[in-house]
Amino acid sequence: MSVLSLVREDLRDFAGYRSARSEALRGDVWLNANESAWANPADADGACRRYPDPQPPRLQAALASLYGVGADSLLVGRGSDEAIDLLVRATCMPGRDAVLVTPPVFGMYAVSARLQGAPVVEVPLRDDARGLVPDVAAIVEAAASGPVRLVFLCSPSNPGGAAIAAADIVAIAEASQGRALVVVDEAYAEFSEAPSALALRERFEHLVVLRTLSKAHALAAARIGVAIAAPELVAVLRRCQAPYPVPTPCAGLAVAGLSEAAQQKTRERVAVVVQERARMQQALAGLPGVRRVYPSQANFLLVRFDDAEAAFQALLATGVVVRDQRAAPGLGDALRITIGTPAQNDRVLSALRAVGRAGEPVAAASRGAAA
Ligand SMILES: Cc1ncc(COP(=O)(O)O)c(C=O)c1O
Repeated sequence: MSVLSLVREDLRDFAGYRSARSEALRGDVWLNANESAWANPADADGACRRYPDPQPPRLQAALASLYGVGADSLLVGRGSDEAIDLLVRATCMPGRDAVLVTPPVFGMYAVSARLQGAPVVEVPLRDDARGLVPDVAAIVEAAASGPVRLVFLCSPSNPGGAAIAAADIVAIAEASQGRALVVVDEAYAEFSEAPSALALRERFEHLVVLRTLSKAHALAAARIGVAIAAPELVAVLRRCQAPYPVPTPCAGLAVAGLSEAAQQKTRERVAVVVQERARMQQALAGLPGVRRVYPSQANFLLVRFDDAEAAFQALLATGVVVRDQRAAPGLGDALRITIGTPAQNDRVLSALRAVGRAGEPVAAASRGAAA
């Protein structure tokens, strides 16, 4: 069965907008897109005068080489956020086809579903010794029956930090065959030892992998992310995408940011993050007031506290802003702390040590009173 059977019936042969750049015409005087004939004074080399190619070829080639896939398997967009949105729009008929998510997890899957009017099926992560991990049996059951069209898996997961075992992705992909697309969001893959789900694409044409330049590659503001999928599906997503999604300055920066020298720097920095993550994991776990530090394959740690409010405020008082997770299901006592530079991480530890010290007399006093 073709992967196109998982695309909305009404969009399978949808042509989308034909931009001025999609016409294969030749010429040296371009008067077909109502662009200015002159460059803006701030645009020294005139690079921004014309609309960009919808999928800038040099960037596409650099990303295809980075991820080891063919250019026709790659949709380049404005961060993986755009790919998430396009996948929901292209597969889910409002009010009918559902999106499966595994809370607590990155919020944009459910936000895009809500905007599309697609029902959200929640299969909560299980909290066990390995961390926050998917309930594979429950996902398989939900994906093998009912209205689920799109399964979002996050590996390594945000905010839990655990990577999903390849065998679990295989089990979910097998159960979803012919019924739902399985999307593995690998925004943090560079920090993980787990093998990428890209290796499973040969086996499952309904598997989509999301990658981004926003995290390890340090280009969050350039907004470059990709969906890697079967070429027929990529073609549909391109037709659903805005006409010129990748701004020329962003494409140029991303190409430069993927040079061999830049990639070498990125690898060195990822190694520092992995080392610091281990140090922080151990140091945080030893602090008074810390209930649990989840094992992480990403560039952050999820930490449960006796008093998360006190920890959050103490960090803030020293100028350190972390992500408050207390509104997320099952995380009423948790903060997510991104791994920073070694000096920044030391600041986190010293602020949290101070909370522990400040808490001691109170805790001792209340213990004394209770005794
Ligand atoms: C799991 C996950 N996926 C996707 C994104 C969005 O990334 P991008 O900047 O590529 O849109 C994030 C951002 O935090 C994330 O945590």
